[in-house]
Amino acid sequence: MTSREIRQSFVDFFKNKNHTFVKSAPVIPADDPTLLFTNAGMNQFKDIFLGKGTRDYSRAVNSQKCIRVSGKHNDLEEVGHDTYHHTFFEMLGNWSFGDYYKNEAIEWAWELLTEVWKIPKNKLFATVFRDDDEAADIWSTVTDISKDRILRFDEKDNFWEMGETGPCGPCSEIHFDQGPDMCDKKDEDHTCFINGDCGRYIELWNLVFIQYDRDVKGKLSPLPAKHVDTGAGFERLVAVLQDKRSNYDTDVFEPLLNRIGDLVGVPYDQSEEQMAYRVIADHVRMLTFSISDGGFPSNEGRGYVMRRILRRASRYARKLNMHDPFIYKLVDTVVESLGEVYPEIHERSQHVASIIKSEEEHFSRNLDRGIDIFEKIVSKLSSARKNVIPGTDVFKLYDTYGFPPDLTRVMAIERGLEIDFDGYENEMEKQKEKARESAKFKSSDIDSDAWIEVSEDGVTVFVGFEKDRIETRIVKYAIQDNQLHIVLKETPFYAESGGQVGDSGTIIVNETKISVVDTQKAGEEVIHICRLPENFVLNMETAVAEVDPVSRQQTEKNHTATHLLQAALRKILGTHVQQAGSLVAPDRLRFDFTHHEKPYESQLLEIERIVNEEIQEDLPLRIDRESFDAAKARGA
Ligand code: SER
Repeated sequence: MTSREIRQSFVDFFKNKNHTFVKSAPVIPADDPTLLFTNAGMNQFKDIFLGKGTRDYSRAVNSQKCIRVSGKHNDLEEVGHDTYHHTFFEMLGNWSFGDYYKNEAIEWAWELLTEVWKIPKNKLFATVFRDDDEAADIWSTVTDISKDRILRFDEKDNFWEMGETGPCGPCSEIHFDQGPDMCDKKDEDHTCFINGDCGRYIELWNLVFIQYDRDVKGKLSPLPAKHVDTGAGFERLVAVLQDKRSNYDTDVFEPLLNRIGDLVGVPYDQSEEQMAYRVIADHVRMLTFSISDGGFPSNEGRGYVMRRILRRASRYARKLNMHDPFIYKLVDTVVESLGEVYPEIHERSQHVASIIKSEEEHFSRNLDRGIDIFEKIVSKLSSARKNVIPGTDVFKLYDTYGFPPDLTRVMAIERGLEIDFDGYENEMEKQKEKARESAKFKSSDIDSDAWIEVSEDGVTVFVGFEKDRIETRIVKYAIQDNQLHIVLKETPFYAESGGQVGDSGTIIVNETKISVVDTQKAGEEVIHICRLPENFVLNMETAVAEVDPVSRQQTEKNHTATHLLQAALRKILGTHVQQAGSLVAPDRLRFDFTHHEKPYESQLLEIERIVNEEIQEDLPLRIDRESFDAAKARGA
């Protein structure tokens, strides 16, 4: 059977048992802040398990695109080293939402594996959770598996959870014996066993009996109904059914490895660097799917995970002597194999390839220089007979050459070295501290002794959305470096934040006009930074604060223009465009955004046209203040 036939036969088997086929969810979860990437088939059904959502079916079958590179389920370090872990993989699953339970789940899994696919029974084992007698009994009554092949394990292996919180429950796994020659342990006292640490037995299918919800404190509460969530690793199943020793020898990976071989000029099976082929083949699949689903390599969060994966792949490309970008050329091969099953990768293949190419180009120069620096670090260590790369060096490789620490670790391990990760984190913290210190204004710039309290209450209320002139009380003031700093109880002055510069204007105290040149925030206080009037004496507790209406209005216009610009950028360059920073001043604006290349002249003209057109429309402007979730739900 081809991999495509295998996937289809799984789906058909469960369709025949009244399951509805449900499309894979995107690998970038839309609304789950607990997850960076979709890591299991059950993610899209989480609301049903928690009793918060319903569907018009109670049985489902699917093949879910999964990525496991972060959080609770992270297989990254295994990828390439072994032949059956992947950053991206497909998970075949059948589901019961409050419908059937352990009985059918076990019976059907056995039927499909042994009767439809005819996997020899003497190669299969079943595991159940430590005290799940019910599952153990079902295995021995509804299937003909021999009793000594039903094994019990504890939480680590037989209790499944998608993350630190959420729906979970005991599980029953089916393992396959690949034969003693697949054991990769050399030590004499090693014995192969299920859930052991050698390559002989692999998990094929996990039947999870979802019945609890784990809360943030770790407490388990029973769910309103019991459900079945099963997941079978597609690539492993294909290897077993095609009688291959490695997932990479199946028709899932063969086209990719062949294409890499063509581009490199050495076929996979003749190479001494086979691991590099495997890593690149694996990583390009992860990148193709994550970018197609709206992800984007960047410096934070999920984007940073994607960038790290790409940089690892680029570094393995160097091992194959590939110095020019070439990973992007593999996207077409991924699309040829999987584009029919997942049409989104077909539709966005050019976008994906161009992003990968531009990331490869950007990293390329730094990669070669970083590798040189790494070599120097290694030789320095070896002459000092040390084997840990100091945190300062790991940090330098990251900060100057863009080597994520996990990439440095991969390179270190290859040379029998370790990295001082804690030291790296220390350096990172120091750098952040420096950045904070060099921030433009800090209330600590003013000696605490310099503040003179006028009235109590240090929290300033901002009223600038409603008014640009108010009468209010003075909380405190300080004179330092020939400047006067005033804190008011209420203020119409916008303090610099979110890229918008602080307001300027006047504060009038007892008929003295004090000119406010800047407004800055210090915790909950707003500090008005003013020119110090000659012979200044404060003899009143109240003041009138008035924002310069012209400059305020110009700033507001530029602020609104950033929103118009962002919308136009998304329209022309794509919805991956995200704000990365901005500056809004009365006379200009700057908008930083994420995109993989310089926009073309024609695109810039079009963006300009759209923004101008919107301005000419003279649409009414409304400022609403609402919670983040409410704004997001409204489509902001
Ligand atoms: N949720 C389980 C897993 O991911 C079974 O689908 O292994």
